[in-house]
Parts: sequence; structure tokens; C-alpha cells
Amino acid sequence: MSDIKNVLAVASGKGGVGKSTVSVNLALSLKEQGYQVGLLDADIYGPSVPLMLKTEGKRPTTPDNKTFNPILASGIELMSIGYIVLKDEATIWRGPMMSKAIEQLLFNTNWSDLDYLIIDLPPGTGDAQLTLSKKANLSAAILVSTPQQVALLDVKKSLEAFQKLSIPVMGLIENMSYFVCDKCGDNHEIFGKNKVKDFLDQNSISLIGRIPIDPSIAFGDDDENLNFGDSDEKLSKDIFDEIAKSIASQLRNI
Ligand SMILES: Nc1ncnc2c1ncn2[C@@H]1O[C@H](COP(=O)(O)OP(=O)(O)OP(=O)(O)O)[C@@H](O)[C@H]1O
Ligand SMILES: [Mg+2]
Ligand SMILES: [Zn+2]
Repeated sequence: MSDIKNVLAVASGKGGVGKSTVSVNLALSLKEQGYQVGLLDADIYGPSVPLMLKTEGKRPTTPDNKTFNPILASGIELMSIGYIVLKDEATIWRGPMMSKAIEQLLFNTNWSDLDYLIIDLPPGTGDAQLTLSKKANLSAAILVSTPQQVALLDVKKSLEAFQKLSIPVMGLIENMSYFVCDKCGDNHEIFGKNKVKDFLDQNSISLIGRIPIDPSIAFGDDDENLNFGDSDEKLSKDIFDEIAKSIASQLRNI
């Protein structure tokens, strides 16, 4: 762990707002910009990195029966509970076991000397988030929210949890901010925009970027052919590239 330069946690209060989507695309953009990148899927109950990067069913090798070599995809080092236990097996684990599992994924993986390790946190502000945030020596946390009030209320709880732990919060990525209309070409802000602005003002945090609703990054269980690593057609690719650059430059200034 000591040779990893920056550890970034991607967090939200509410589930389903796009943490994993942001984590994966951020990792891909940073990799493309020449950095050595790792991605830890800390979502024990609902790992999504194996599916998103088309590595389901892969099993990490172990050189010594104690540590795991990460799975490689699109040049990124990956680790997820999904590579270790059978599907759904982990869903019955209780808090302490889950925390232990996350810790092992983090510390027992043979990461190389990464420039960035991105941690895709599970939703909420429970045990898992706290354990990791305390032990992983985070450089910063990045919050993800959609523009809806319910999501912002929950992300506020994450923000407060990080503040309590004295972990710097770099800012907020607003996901599903607008819809690029295929009829008139305008950006329709279907969830409104003032709620995010108010949230940022009230909590003195900065906006790292705004990601539109992008049908090419939406995925479901039926999208067997999607591999984020291959798709150059993403509407939001330039936006993720900009976000990655901005994050890299902010970290250099910490
Ligand atoms: N900008 C976007 N445009 C279109 N679809 C999106 C966008 N962001 C996320 N999605 C879709 O929304 C769903 C939820 O996204 P994702 O899995 O990244 O959220 P999450 O916060 O990691 O969820 P969980 O809390 O379950 O871990 C996915 O099907 C994803 O493809
Ligand atoms: Mg997720
Ligand atoms: Zn329109």
C-alpha cells in the first residue's frame, strides 16, 4: 500500500446514483492519460466491476496462498469480491465480516506502484465505508449524486461522515445532470439544477463535473456485449477525460 501515490474513494449516500459508473470511467480515463491505475470494488453485497469490465468468472491467482494478484482489464488492475466468492455468497455476511473482507481485498492484493487506486464504495455511511476510509489512508473522497433532493440529502450524510474522519472531500460529481436531446439538440435539465447549486453553496464544496444521461453508459443485466473498456463511442467520454484531468491536477496541489 505504501507505494500507491493516491487513494481516492468514490462515495454517495444513496445507491444507484452512478458511483460504479464514475469509478470505472474515471479509471479508464486516468489510464488513458498515462497513469498506472487500480480499481477496488468495495461493494461486497453488490459488486459491479466484474460485470462492467467484462471480467465475470475470472479468478485471481495467488503466489503464496495469502495474497491475490489483481485481475487485469483495459490495462487497469482490478479487485472485487466478485472474483473471489461465488455470486450471492457474500450477501449473507454481516457487518464485521464484510468489513474484514473489504480490508483483505485492499491489503492482500498485490497492487503495483499505482499512481491512483480508485475505491468504489458501497452506498451509505455504514461500517464498510468507515473501516475503509480509516485504514486506506485516503488522499481524498469524491462524492457522486444525481440532482434530485433525495440523493443530495443522502450525500450530505456521506460528506459529514468524511468530515468527521478528517478526510478531505475534493468535491461533487453531478451524474445524470441533463439529457442531450436528440430532437432539438439542447441539454434538458430534467431534474432541475438549482438543488445542486444550493447544496454546493451551503456545504462549501466544489463541483468536479457534470455527466449527462448517456444511453451508451447505461447498462443492465441484458447488455451482455457492453464492455466499458472498449467503447470509444461514449457521449460522455470527453467529460470523463476532463474530470480525470481535473482530479489529477487537484491531487498534485494537495
Ligand atoms: N450518466 C448516466 N447515464 C445513463 N445511465 C447511467 C448513468 N450513470 C449511471 N447509469 C446507470 O444507472 C445504473 C446505476 O449506476 P451505478 O451502478 O454506477 O450506480 P451505483 O451508485 O454504483 O449503484 P450501487 O449503489 O448499486 O452500487 C446503472 O445501470 C448505470 O448504467
Ligand atoms: Mg456500485
Ligand atoms: Zn429537446
